[in-house]
Amino acid sequence: MEKKNIDWASLGFGYVQTDKRYVSYFKDGAWDNGALIDDPNIVMNECACVLQYAQTCFEGLKAYTTEDGSIVTFRPDLNAERMESSAKRLSMPVFPKDRFIDAVKQVVAANAAWVPPYGSGATLYLRPYMFGYNPVIGVKPATEYQFRILTTPVGPYFKGGAKPITIRVSDYDRAAPRGTGNVKAGLNYAMSLYAIVDAHEQGFDENIYLDPGTRTYIEETGGANIIFITKDNKMVTPKSDSILPSITRRSLMYVAEKYLGMQVEERPIALEEIGDFVEAGLCGTAAVISPVKKIVDHGKDIPFVNCQEEMGPTIKKLYDTLTGIQMGRIEAPEGWIVKVM
Ligand code: PLP
Ligand code: COI
Repeated sequence: MEKKNIDWASLGFGYVQTDKRYVSYFKDGAWDNGALIDDPNIVMNECACVLQYAQTCFEGLKAYTTEDGSIVTFRPDLNAERMESSAKRLSMPVFPKDRFIDAVKQVVAANAAWVPPYGSGATLYLRPYMFGYNPVIGVKPATEYQFRILTTPVGPYFKGGAKPITIRVSDYDRAAPRGTGNVKAGLNYAMSLYAIVDAHEQGFDENIYLDPGTRTYIEETGGANIIFITKDNKMVTPKSDSILPSITRRSLMYVAEKYLGMQVEERPIALEEIGDFVEAGLCGTAAVISPVKKIVDHGKDIPFVNCQEEMGPTIKKLYDTLTGIQMGRIEAPEGWIVKVM
């Protein structure tokens, strides 16, 4: 299989149309067999539930070329499980886990020429998504759905790659107490669009959101969870019911403890205490681990002293171990790596 002629190293995080996408239709209470198709466009009724009431959820995972030239994905079972929670929370039918993993394998294999080569710094991003598409005008769930997976080759999520970024404390909330912050609903991202445009206009790379109940604890950014490192080398990460349970963060907690022998704490983290941490990083499929130079709270700088010019040493170890596992350089825990070809 010949790879596409792309300058992989200069890719940013954008949409590039690839050859095949996966689609399965839900109608009369059942999913059809699913298929790979060529057409990237979707035609639907003007009154489709997704257009009127935002009944949609999604996932994000990546396919990697490993050191030995295989193509693999990372923990797709956890994406399937999280999509199940998202679907249930939005009154959508569940796309079964075994079929989700099979669809991931099919769509990656069909787009193998688009999976960036080992060492290029790029990966193939997979976006599974589901939406209600029959016409609905009273507020109620759709009865017909599409489950799809599109793929696109991507580079770093933040411009500048591994250069530490600056984020600000947002005055807006991305989630509500007892809302949908803990699932991957499209509506959570719509909520964040105004705040991200404003953050960029003010010269910040991202927003960090506070807990919507009391606005005193750190939650997460618009597209990633956050981890901190203490002076005595502990990894600390927020615990909250309104953040997305990041697969990257859950994996890093395991890596920190089991591979690097670190202590890990998952607990509420007050905005007031974050000046005590020496490193900070945003973690997620797209973000991988993006180091944070400082958080700005209404004009007050809160710097992370070991993440000024580049990624701090502990975050670098976490990054190297996680990406080493994903790229086949370091032995993975049982079940983390799913081989496609
Ligand atoms: N938090 C939000 C709001 C996200 O959009 C994402 C991206 O998926 C994450 C966290 C990170 O989750 P994961 O590591 O599973 O990609
Ligand atoms: C991901 O990391 O997969 C996400 O969905 C985050 C998104 C902001 C790109």
